[in-house]
Amino acid sequence: MGYDARVANTSEQCPAASDWGGARGDRWRAQLSGMEAMLKPVDDPLIRALKLDTLLRIAEIGSGGGGTALELLQRAPVGSVVHGFDISAGLVEHARDRARSEGAPIAFEVADMASAAPPGAPYDRLVSRFGIMFFADAPAAFANLFRWLAPGGRLAFAAWGRVADNHWMTDVRAAVAEVVEIPAADPTAPGPFRYAEPDKLLALLKSAGFAELEVRDWRGALPVGGGLPVAEAASFAIASFSTFQDLLTQAGGDALTRARQALTTRFAGLEQNGVVELEARVHIFTGARPR
Ligand SMILES: C[S@@+](CC[C@H](N)C(=O)[O-])C[C@H]1O[C@@H](n2cnc3c(N)ncnc32)[C@H](O)[C@@H]1O
Repeated sequence: MGYDARVANTSEQCPAASDWGGARGDRWRAQLSGMEAMLKPVDDPLIRALKLDTLLRIAEIGSGGGGTALELLQRAPVGSVVHGFDISAGLVEHARDRARSEGAPIAFEVADMASAAPPGAPYDRLVSRFGIMFFADAPAAFANLFRWLAPGGRLAFAAWGRVADNHWMTDVRAAVAEVVEIPAADPTAPGPFRYAEPDKLLALLKSAGFAELEVRDWRGALPVGGGLPVAEAASFAIASFSTFQDLLTQAGGDALTRARQALTTRFAGLEQNGVVELEARVHIFTGARPR
């Protein structure tokens, strides 16, 4: 969400498509409250999978605006430590401000988790909500992340299941495709659906040294923008998901307006209790570093 290298991954079309340290991170920040409210339902299955059963040191990969880190701190045994790491300086700044204003003792640091070493002792838990699908050299990145986990430590990562089961993407994409041509996808490129076939990530994690690997699916409804009525939900989705807004802006004329109308019409049939909710399927990967 907020990206889709499968849809448009050529630098000429969308220079910011994988630039999380730059424009992509800034765009995520601009839509942050709506995106985090929309993704909030994933926190519960993800954090439960992490097994916060004792005093722990927890590192979050791609901590974004800090919502999941705050939830982790609330749910971990008192005295546990939560550190968030993200490649986007703007998102880290936002997360720090938020933690400060909420009085939450969470440290957020700028780090490229594909290559950075842990700042101190390795962690007891490694967690990520949709932050592990963007590494350019995935085998090297997961080998690096192995160093972040202490022997006996556990991981839980959330990644999107196949596109067809994620209506937040298919419905929006179908409306946009009524107006502009959407470039073909490369399922191997960094992007949200890169691990839709879970075996790919399981194999990478195994090669990196992790064990006890499992994947379970969470299916549920996500409130678009956190719970918006039809027209606002359509504008939010086009501005925030994938690079649709870039494609429509580049198409020029009234393309953006027509796509918003097409999506508003689709959403009208889905609205319930004044908000639009769309079905999602998320893989929750778990594993451990052998002792
Ligand atoms: C889809 S967003 C998810 C953000 C947050 N976890 C959430 O669910 O709201 C992906 C996040 O991963 C971060 N990210 C991408 N590549 C990264 C890397 N190599 N190292 C650290 N963070 C990265 C991005 O900056 C962004 O905050």
